[in-house]
Amino acid sequence: MSSRPLSIIVGVTGGIAAYKAIHVVRLLTLQGHEVTVVPTRAALEFVGRPTFEAVSHRPVRVDLFDNVDRVQHVSLGKAADLVVVVPATANTIAKIAAGIADNLLTTTLLTATAPIVIAPAMHTEMWRNAATQHNVSTLRSRGITIIEPDDGQLTGDDSGPGRLPEPERIVSEALALIPGSESRDLDGRRILVTAGGTHEALDPVRYIGNNSSGKQGIAFAVAAAARGAHVTLVAANVDGPVPGGVEIVSVVTAEELANEVLTRSRGCDAVVMAAAVADYRPVEKSARKLKKDVIGDGLTVKLVKNRDVLASLVLEKSVAGPIIGFAAETADGDELLALGREKMARKKCDFLVINAVGDSIGFGEQTNSVVVIDRAGEVVAEAAGTKRDVADRVLDLIV
Ligand SMILES: Cc1cc2nc3c(=O)[nH]c(=O)nc-3n(C[C@H](O)[C@H](O)[C@H](O)COP(=O)(O)O)c2cc1C
Repeated sequence: MSSRPLSIIVGVTGGIAAYKAIHVVRLLTLQGHEVTVVPTRAALEFVGRPTFEAVSHRPVRVDLFDNVDRVQHVSLGKAADLVVVVPATANTIAKIAAGIADNLLTTTLLTATAPIVIAPAMHTEMWRNAATQHNVSTLRSRGITIIEPDDGQLTGDDSGPGRLPEPERIVSEALALIPGSESRDLDGRRILVTAGGTHEALDPVRYIGNNSSGKQGIAFAVAAAARGAHVTLVAANVDGPVPGGVEIVSVVTAEELANEVLTRSRGCDAVVMAAAVADYRPVEKSARKLKKDVIGDGLTVKLVKNRDVLASLVLEKSVAGPIIGFAAETADGDELLALGREKMARKKCDFLVINAVGDSIGFGEQTNSVVVIDRAGEVVAEAAGTKRDVADRVLDLIV
């Protein structure tokens, strides 16, 4: 999706998340950018130099005193259009804040005139430590962009803020700093995206839900925002980080989602309905927790049909551009396509994204594989890869 190839330095420091830098380098190279990886010695304890050379298709230099004739401790930084440090350790962050220049990465950072993006990753204690927080605010005050770490699973059993965000987000936020580096073919467009899965309460502690993690919808929001759109994300119980630069509207139930979507989509240029919305909800929600010693051996729950948001949206005709529906089916091949076509015949949206789901595919995964049909049931695209790749392919269609 790139329109101008950039010269990018990817600095890698010595944290567990160094393996995710491989994917960052790969995404940038795939977009046509020239990437030079500058790892610290500690980073090479986690990922080897050959891996970085293979994914960047360029030699990797580590030592300050290699290739001295090319004065690379100065030349690398001066020639870069963008410098991204991913992951950034507490140690390297402290060095940058103090202006220390004791390796090729830190000298490069001192000589770089291009925008610098730092993606910290570390244990929560290291991240929350007053020294790290002070160093991070120093970097921010100097105009360096800090990509806030996610709150989630860390190494081992630990969990909390400090986790490196997904490579797609890092790439998108970093490239967004360079005008013209990403395709802006949705510039100024208003797009509403739904993500996640609705919860229909049985009582104050239990609900009927589904396995949708929201990752595909979030990928749509990130991709559309990176392409210049104003994005509203109606997020139903999503699992994971929600992107910056996107307006978030949190909902829990199908009815809440329907209300938000039907109101907020008026005049939008496109609506992407990636959320898994419950077809039914319990007729009654118990005000108190249901107790099995009171209920006995069997519990019958009466359900009532929820409003069909996608069909209502199509009928209302208040969206200015395409409406994209989703069909997640436990089938494959011709049967999957046939089920998708049946759904399209009922919903009559502009495009329907069909994907297979099952115990280990679709929901919650980082990747997806979809077929897209138009209103006539014709296959207009097939896409497989990361959820961001899939999102970009579908956005290409609506563009
Ligand atoms: C197994 C292991 C994992 C580590 N993970 C991290 C980490 O995620 N974040 C961090 O700030 N430091 C981490 N460290 C500590 C750094 O490797 C250490 O501070 C090192 O000096 C960093 O060097 P650099 O900043 O030059 O790459 C880890 C150390 C070990 C042994």
